[in-house]
Amino acid sequence: MKRILITGALGQIGSELVEQLRMIYGISNVIAADIRDSPVAREEGPFEKMDVIDGKEFSTIAKRHNVDTIIHLASILSAKAESIPIKSWKINMSGLLNGLEIAREMKLQFFTPSSIAAFGHSTPKENTPQVTIQRPATMYGINKTAGELLCDYYFKKYGIDTRGIRLPGIISHHEPGGGTTDYAVEIYKAAFKKGRYTSYLEKGTTLDMMYIPDALDAIIQLMEIDTSKLINRNAYNISSFSAAPEDFAQAIRKHIPHFQLDYKIDPIRQNIADSWPNRLDCIAAIKEWGFQPKYDLEMTTEAMFRKMKEK
Ligand code: SER
Repeated sequence: MKRILITGALGQIGSELVEQLRMIYGISNVIAADIRDSPVAREEGPFEKMDVIDGKEFSTIAKRHNVDTIIHLASILSAKAESIPIKSWKINMSGLLNGLEIAREMKLQFFTPSSIAAFGHSTPKENTPQVTIQRPATMYGINKTAGELLCDYYFKKYGIDTRGIRLPGIISHHEPGGGTTDYAVEIYKAAFKKGRYTSYLEKGTTLDMMYIPDALDAIIQLMEIDTSKLINRNAYNISSFSAAPEDFAQAIRKHIPHFQLDYKIDPIRQNIADSWPNRLDCIAAIKEWGFQPKYDLEMTTEAMFRKMKEK
């Protein structure tokens, strides 16, 4: 049986992961924590308002709920981090270090996601290998790369069962916020409401993407697999498909034929996207723990519009 503490639980991934984990492990065994308060979340199950940079509070909460696992999602995303780099370093690094220290003290399993942002301009862009040149060019990427290494360190030095994946752009109904890949959510909402979208990323900016059910499945699968199967353990490349703004437009037009896409480039986010890979090689995740995404671009598009219509 698992008792899990999830940080960043009100975020794009957290909000849906909490729901899924509660279906598997039971409502009372999944403790949601976020820096924001939420009366709705409090009604749905155990919830703690918590700042991950307050190590004492983080530790008290983990102990009070007697958890055996931490899923650490709290983080400032790439575009926002460029506007507040020092604060991002604090939240992304101190938050992670606090989580890892609690995992060490309490001997917990520890999961945290890295990102496609952990790569940089000198990384091979096509079929980006699991182990390759990283040298990220953004504060968020620097935090994620350092985080990957820290997780490896806690496993090697202390034997902590750390695990993690490199997430691509996540597409879901819950709004992300502050990310470079956020357009891949906005484009569906704008298409549905207005039949048009202005992209802040240039035509031809191809990035790895994933519809959220594939991300949730991947996290749970990796958490559940027997530890002896894991060679890389942290920062597995995962991706469902690669797409640029015009690829989304083409898929959207099968549902909304008059959909119009135009461009007004945001140099900051374009710069970030240009430093990331086009397509990750996911062979390590496939071989070591059976990663198998289900949603391609067409299926994602279909599912996004189906859900919007239901609402
Ligand atoms: N979706 C994230 C971002 O754009 C990448 O990890 O910042």
